[in-house]
Amino acid sequence: MYPSVRPRRLRTSPVLRRMVRENHLRTDDLVSPIFVVPGSGFAREVSSMPGVFQLSIDKAVEEAREVLDLGIPSVILFGIPEQKDAGATGAWHDHGIVQQASSALKEALPQLVVIADTCLCEYTDHGHCGVIAEADAVGHVLNDPTLELLGRTAVAQAQAGADIIAPSGMMDGMVRAIRTALDEAGFTDTPVLSYAAKYASAYYGPFRDAAESTPQFGDRRTYQMDPANSREALKEVALDVAEGADMLMVKPALAYLDIIQQVKAATNLPLAAYNVSGEYAMVKAASLNGWIDEERVVLETLLSMKRAGADLLLTYHAKDAARWLARS
Ligand code: PBG
Ligand code: ZN
Repeated sequence: MYPSVRPRRLRTSPVLRRMVRENHLRTDDLVSPIFVVPGSGFAREVSSMPGVFQLSIDKAVEEAREVLDLGIPSVILFGIPEQKDAGATGAWHDHGIVQQASSALKEALPQLVVIADTCLCEYTDHGHCGVIAEADAVGHVLNDPTLELLGRTAVAQAQAGADIIAPSGMMDGMVRAIRTALDEAGFTDTPVLSYAAKYASAYYGPFRDAAESTPQFGDRRTYQMDPANSREALKEVALDVAEGADMLMVKPALAYLDIIQQVKAATNLPLAAYNVSGEYAMVKAASLNGWIDEERVVLETLLSMKRAGADLLLTYHAKDAARWLARS
């Protein structure tokens, strides 16, 4: 009889398919991003990200409560400060917006895991992820002076109650600088989730509207990675592991599933994938036009990241995904 091997045998019923399923998407895997702005009673939808809002702290607390009620354990905070300056004061100041939001969230929702994105781009007047020499018009970020500010930012965030510090600026040595600063300040138990392999990607466009962090000149290609490279990702990852990272991230996710897979194979640390703003915007646009089935496309996309090797998924679809998973 031919064919003797019939893989379709294991696909004949939903229960059989469930029994042999290799990968699972779980609500515990999700992290929901929140953009915090000054003021109160404020919520403004980001035009290129339908369903995503800039929120004042009181509204961010409501949002995080909804996230927790859906079974999602964690949020990652991005801040938009009242004022930006050359020294990124709003990033490291005790009363910086992310610091204020972290304390408010931890006070209202102690069991919520608050991840603080640790970078300077939302806080510098030029929009780059670090310090720039005066009279520099191309945007060459000075690495080592930036490390000092990242250390201070991480300590201020931890002092305010942030549970996990997530440096996203792709500065050389940022993980060790932050680890040392945290340890010296007594935060030896605060983990660092490093955006270890972060590419210079066009998929960040909508985020920069949301975070008001578009560079005023130049671009981020002198610090974020060239999308053509994969071996370099392993080099970045090895450095971050050696510097003391507790968890790693690959970003973006969808166009970089091969990187997720390779990083997973190369390390034994928990791995996060960032399903970024442009990936979200494309799915939303198609679904609002009625061109795709949003629920199925989102769940399939998130599952692909798990299958590639991600343990955690940072995604603007988190709340919707949690609702869909609860029904299925
Ligand atoms: C900046 C930062 C970026 C994102 C998170 N932190 C992008 C950037 O402007 O380089 C992107 C997130 C997204 O697109 O959803 N440090
Ligand atoms: Zn940045």
